[in-house]
Amino acid sequence: MKSLPSMFSSLHTSLQGILNARTSTVPFPTLTDALPTSAPDLFSNDYLSIANNGQLRQSFLKRIAHSSHLFGSRGSRMLAGNTSEHIALESRLQQYFGTEAVMLFNSGYDANVSFFGSIPQEGDAVLFDELIHASCHDGLAVSRARKAARPFAHNSVISFEMVLRQVLAGCPQIVARKATLFVVVESLYSMDGDFCPLPDFLRVLDRYVPSGCYHVVVDEAHSTGILGPGGRGFVAELGLQDRVHTVIHTFGKARGLTGAVITTSPIVRRFLIHYARPLIFSTSLPHMNLIALQCSCDIIEGPLGDQLRTRLQELSAHFGGLLLELVKTVPKTAFSLPETANQLIPFSPIFPILTPQPVALATYLEKHGYGATAIAFPAVPRGQERIRVVIHAGNAESDLDNFVALLRHWAMAQHASGWSARL
Ligand SMILES: Cc1ncc(COP(=O)(O)O)c(C=O)c1O
Repeated sequence: MKSLPSMFSSLHTSLQGILNARTSTVPFPTLTDALPTSAPDLFSNDYLSIANNGQLRQSFLKRIAHSSHLFGSRGSRMLAGNTSEHIALESRLQQYFGTEAVMLFNSGYDANVSFFGSIPQEGDAVLFDELIHASCHDGLAVSRARKAARPFAHNSVISFEMVLRQVLAGCPQIVARKATLFVVVESLYSMDGDFCPLPDFLRVLDRYVPSGCYHVVVDEAHSTGILGPGGRGFVAELGLQDRVHTVIHTFGKARGLTGAVITTSPIVRRFLIHYARPLIFSTSLPHMNLIALQCSCDIIEGPLGDQLRTRLQELSAHFGGLLLELVKTVPKTAFSLPETANQLIPFSPIFPILTPQPVALATYLEKHGYGATAIAFPAVPRGQERIRVVIHAGNAESDLDNFVALLRHWAMAQHASGWSARL
């Protein structure tokens, strides 16, 4: 192996210094070891266990055998990469979501950076939940409205109303109907597993902001495919499609692939085509992904999708019940559930287990065949360290039972070692 030219050494010295400071507080993986594939999946975003689904595999293989295009799209949508397959998938998704316009993106990250980086204008204001995804922040960071973006406390209707009133006082042009207030939330939050109180937020908006002067954006990354009729998501589950202006559905989680679609108005779509840099300056989705997405949609929208969603709910309820019983019987110092725990059951497949020792617990679980990710500060606030468990339609009930038995064993062992250390 040839060594790099020495002019890089000053760069490396400076990078090394920053890395040393960072890794002393944040455990970062080297990404050189894969999780053992035998581990029961209690941690991925593949909620419906569709990524390795046999029916998806079969229909994909059948479809690609007859496809004239298979690999790269050969350019951005603005150039050679706007093919009939991209248009066909968009048209299918537009019908399925029953929306006026849709726009495909290469990822949920690109969709959020595109929307927030181009749609809010100078003079507009943005009100966002403090836990929205990094991709929304990255879009807002380059937005013309970036100086007028304000967070409210996570899922708090009281904080929402308070910050809304402050924002409106600072931006009288919104109530004067000359500018727009953007409200940004996620449907299901991935770290806490809790749902946005969207109807409450809409009620507050109606009280303070004239209709037509606000634009609600919901990121459905963690709910698309698993909620709503035919997997249409949280907004559809609540029947609020005519109250929410833009929705981001990503394909990397319950839909088992990669990419995203924004459902929105025709004018927002046109604006994105003109100004969304990730859309304009990047090669569009390859054909094999588009074909696989068509097959994934067939499953999500059909009877198998319904079965998988039902199974996911049953298993989530089962696991939630076991967890609630468990925390009643183990020392509180070992772990606890967040205050929202009762609301998690049976709807959310995401279970945060708060523990002061997330790395020790994750290591213990890994030793017993369960890949587990410790989530420590600063990914979550101090005192909120956790492991995050995700239930999947393909989990066996016995795996969940075994997992809870291991949690109990670990908690008791911690308790016993704490006692012996104090004796
Ligand atoms: C809430 C949310 N939005 C957007 C994204 C980005 O989606 P993608 O992985 O498709 O880039 C993620 C990914 O983790 C997410 O959790």
